[in-house]
Order: sequence, then C-alpha cells, then structure tokens
Amino acid sequence: MASVVLIGTQWGDEGKGKVTDFLAEKADLVVRYQGGNNAGHTVVAKGEEFKLHLIPSGILYEDKTCVIGNGVVVDPKVLLEELAYLSERKVKTGKLLISSNAHVIMPYHRILDALEEDSRGEHKIGTTKRGIGPAYMDKTLRIGIRIMDLIDDEEFAGKLRRNLQDKNNLLIKVYGVEPLDYDTIYQEYSGYAQKIRSLVADSSLIIDESLKAGEKVLFEGAQGTLLDLDHGTYPYVTSSHPIAGGACIGAGVGPTRINRVVGVIKAYTTRVGEGPFPTELADETGELMRQNGHEFGTTTGRARRCGWFDAVIARYAVRVSGISDFALMKLDVLSGFEKIKICVGYRVNNEVIYEFPQSQKIFKACEPVYEVIEGWQEDITGVTHFEDLPKAAQDYVRRIEQLTETQVTLIAVGPGREQTIVRGEIF
Ligand code: GDP
Ligand code: IMO
Ligand code: MG
Repeated sequence: MASVVLIGTQWGDEGKGKVTDFLAEKADLVVRYQGGNNAGHTVVAKGEEFKLHLIPSGILYEDKTCVIGNGVVVDPKVLLEELAYLSERKVKTGKLLISSNAHVIMPYHRILDALEEDSRGEHKIGTTKRGIGPAYMDKTLRIGIRIMDLIDDEEFAGKLRRNLQDKNNLLIKVYGVEPLDYDTIYQEYSGYAQKIRSLVADSSLIIDESLKAGEKVLFEGAQGTLLDLDHGTYPYVTSSHPIAGGACIGAGVGPTRINRVVGVIKAYTTRVGEGPFPTELADETGELMRQNGHEFGTTTGRARRCGWFDAVIARYAVRVSGISDFALMKLDVLSGFEKIKICVGYRVNNEVIYEFPQSQKIFKACEPVYEVIEGWQEDITGVTHFEDLPKAAQDYVRRIEQLTETQVTLIAVGPGREQTIVRGEIF
C-alpha cells in the first residue's frame, strides 16, 4: 500500500504522534494536512521524548521528507521555535517543506481567539487560544494571508495593512483594547519570511510525484473525529477537518490515491476543553486513568477529562473516515482495573440508540449503556506479541473489533516506539 491516512478517532490526544513515528519508518513522505499548533504530538524514541506541534511526527527520521500541507494554519513564530528545539535536540530538519498555500496565523488571530473565548462566558469552547479559529475564519472569508503572500513583500505589506485596519476596528470598537501596530508586525513577520523562504514548496505536486514514483506517503491528522468542524460535536470542535477526507483537501491529493485509513484510538476516552462526553468519569476511576495515563495536555497542560471506551464513537469514526485499521493505544493504562466497561449504546428519552446522534442536545442527554468485562492485573508494557497478552486483554481487543467491525492492527502498550504489538502490515 502506497498511501495511508492516519487520523484521531476520538477527541484528540489518542497517540497519533507515536503511531506516525512508528509508521514513518517505512514511509518516504510524511504530510500534516490540517490544524495548527493547537496540536501536541508526542514521540518517544530511544528513550527520549519529543513534543511536536506543527512539524510532522516523521521528522525524527532524517531521510524522510516532511511536509506541512496547505490545510494547516502556520504560526511562523512557533514553527521557528520548533525548528530551534529540534536542532537543540540534534534532530536534522533539512527535509522539511511548507505548502505555499498554507495560511499564516497572525498576532491578531491569537488575541481575538482569547477575547472571543472570554466573551463567550459559560458558552466558551475551551480553545487552545493559539489563534486557530480566527485564522481559519479569515481563510474562509478569503482575506487570509498565505505563506506565498508572507514571502512576497509587496503582497504581504498590502494584505497586512488591509487586514489590520479591520482587526484594529474590532479590537478598539468591540473589545475596547489597544490596537496593534503595523510596523511592529511587518518587521517581525518579514524576519520570519526570510527564515522560511527556502522551505516553501508546491506540496501537492511533490506528493503527486512521490506517489507516481511508487513511494510511500503517510498523511498525519491532528485533533480527532469528534473535533471535526462538520462531523464533530459542534460547536465544541476545532475549525478544520481532522477526518480522513480532510487529507485530500489539506494536502491536495485525490481520494482514489488513498489506500488505507488508520484510526488511532485510545483504549479508553479522553477530552480536553468543553462539550458533552457520555462516558466521562468524574470519580476516582477517572482520576486513576488520568494519573496512570498521564492525561495532561501536551499543548496547554490542562487536565484531560477521562472515561470508558465508547464503541458508538468508534463506529461513527469508522463510518465518516472509512477506517480500515485501528491502532489501539494505551492498553497498558487499563492494567489493574478489576472490571472494564465498554459503552455499546446510549440511553436517551427512554430508548436505547446505537448510532451517534446528529443533535448535540440529544448527545448531551445520552447515558451510556455499558457492557462489563473482566479486567487484567498484569503489567503488559513489555509485551510484544498479541498471544502474550493476558487473556482478558486479548478479549477486550477482540470485543472492540467485533463492536466496530474493524481490525485492530496495531496495539500500543507504552509510549516507546518498541512498545507496539503488530498484528498485520499497514504499509
Ligand atoms: P496525540 O496528540 O494523538 O499525538 O497524542 P498526545 O501526544 O497528545 O498524547 C498521547 C500521550 O500518550 C503521549 O504522552 C504519549 O507519549 C503517550 N502514549 C502513546 N501511546 C501510549 C501507550 O500505548 N501507553 C502509554 N502509557 N502512553 C502512551
Ligand atoms: P492533538 O492533535 C485535543 C480542542 C481544544 C478545544 C477545541 C477547539 O494533540 O490531538 P482550537 O484551539 O482548536 O480552536 O480548540 O479543540 N483541541 C484539541 N484537543 N487534542 C488536540 O490536538 C486538540 N486541538 C484542539 O481543547 O476543545
Ligand atoms: Mg495531543
């Protein structure tokens, strides 16, 4: 198989960084296709931990070309900081490319993200305040500044002037805060432009050439299915398309070129930010998951909300992305629970439903219907073959496969590259 899309199946933080790094070993090209530095992808390689926000998680292999696709919103300051961080850690980043069509996150996007969140009061989304929503808003409004504009002095100067006039009006008249200074932003961003100019490329063309040459391309999604702007728990979503279809738009590749879709899915569920979460455990069991799984945000440090595995969500993700394989993550975190619960349906308005509801009002009212299965007590962090897992853990994996009608091809039993059980080929 030549091209694989990797997506988050739940609300993000499933372990996409780990699986991307794992699959990148066999890939030639690794492409991020949406989101921005709201993402935090962790890779643990040879005992060292790396946290990536914008740069594809294939970057630890120096021979792989890594591409930031057109669907990503790029904060150039963060990009340069991430490059410096990798350089300090002795990671070579010479094969990184950025799409000239990607949009740029500007200072006013970050400021407006925070101001808009504060003004929502109890209806806040719980955004990462990285300027993601406002940057995608400008893209949709067709006033955004793209990487190609940033590196073209004349275009940049004109677009910045026009945008800043609008944004300063908003800042002064709506929010009553200080306006931003044109010269300061112009100087700062012109400096970034000089530094990233050599990385800018027609990434869709590069991907096409790579696929035609028979190379292997891995598309790395950020966030997760339920944070998708169209298919997630709107309005508690991000402003892009993390589902598999997002890869086609965000990388400029046709759907007939995608061979496989890997859904990265945690053995339980977590969520950061606001919004409904039927299997959430606001008790000591949830706290145990949080502690055992170190469930604190990679980007914002916020405590992640934790709960049992939800098969309704998993099936829904299979539907909207055409997931062919699951990578089941953090199975080790469930070691030690006497009983484990799987949500198989929702009870709502005196009936039981088995499909993800369209209405968030209904989703909010859903009570999980659980199936209870035996837990296991053994430490499984050193297991490398499926047959060596405790029988109860094997049964748990098989039950997930039955409920979702999807094979679990990879199982992660720890953060390290080597802590991965392989049950079939992906590439
Ligand atoms: P991403 O956003 O989907 O890439 O996930 P994050 O990096 O935000 O969060 C996943 C966390 O779980 C990271 O700290 C990983 O190092 C860690 N992790 C990944 N897989 C496993 C696993 O199988 N077991 C354990 N215990 N930790 C894991
Ligand atoms: P990775 O790629 C988990 C959540 C935020 C908030 C909502 C909107 O690491 O899985 P935004 O800043 O995007 O406008 O926030 O989306 N969110 C994530 N949650 N993992 C992520 O990324 C996320 N990126 C955004 O917490 O609820
Ligand atoms: Mg994350």
